[in-house]
Amino acid sequence: MTGWQLQKMMASVASVGTSAPITIQPQYSLLVRETEYEILPSALDAQLGVLAWGPLGGGWLTGKYSRTAPPTGRTRLGENPSRGFEAYSKRAPRDGTWKVLEEVERVARDHDVTSAAVALAWLRDQTGVTSVILGARSATQLESNMTAAGLTLSIDELTRLSSASDPRPDDYPYGPRGQEQRA
Ligand SMILES: NC(=O)c1ccc[n+]([C@@H]2O[C@H](COP(=O)([O-])OP(=O)(O)OC[C@H]3O[C@@H](n4cnc5c(N)ncnc54)[C@H](OP(=O)(O)O)[C@@H]3O)[C@@H](O)[C@H]2O)c1
Repeated sequence: MTGWQLQKMMASVASVGTSAPITIQPQYSLLVRETEYEILPSALDAQLGVLAWGPLGGGWLTGKYSRTAPPTGRTRLGENPSRGFEAYSKRAPRDGTWKVLEEVERVARDHDVTSAAVALAWLRDQTGVTSVILGARSATQLESNMTAAGLTLSIDELTRLSSASDPRPDDYPYGPRGQEQRA
């Protein structure tokens, strides 16, 4: 939902006296940051928890997909390259996708951890995020991804990751000048 829909839902729940929701599940990751435009501020204002789904961009943020070779094999996109939000034809042509993946990999190398761990740790540390919903095909993936819980990223690393993944909306209404006008 969008921000206004979330606020309207909270108001209508309050007006009938039903128990209020305590959390929402939006998609949010280093590859899907548009969630920050309205959904996160609305959730913070309404004191709703945020359980982020798709934290690895459906597998992209593990670094396993290649720019030059379309996905094959026993992976989400290997089995169906056109699948959902993470479709190869949608993300692969974008330079921004690879810019994010390269920065994630650089940080991962410095910590000697996986790219997935870095992507999960960045997400966990974002304002308003209550927890991260992990998706995994196997217990091995799950165990490996759980190492993110012990990973602490520095302010500089968080900033570099945020900068590489910034969706850079135009000035109005979500870009820098629009934000200044609302401050
Ligand atoms: N509330 C909602 O509207 C909503 C919507 C969608 C999902 N969800 C929930 O959120 C959960 C998480 O979303 P998601 O599954 O899209 O999350 P995700 O973490 O972005 O993607 C998970 C997929 O990435 C791949 N992967 C995970 N760890 C890996 C590793 N270490 N190495 C290599 N590949 C790895 C696996 O797929 P492959 O190995 O097959 O590539 C796995 O299924 C879902 O399972 C679902 O329960 C909620």
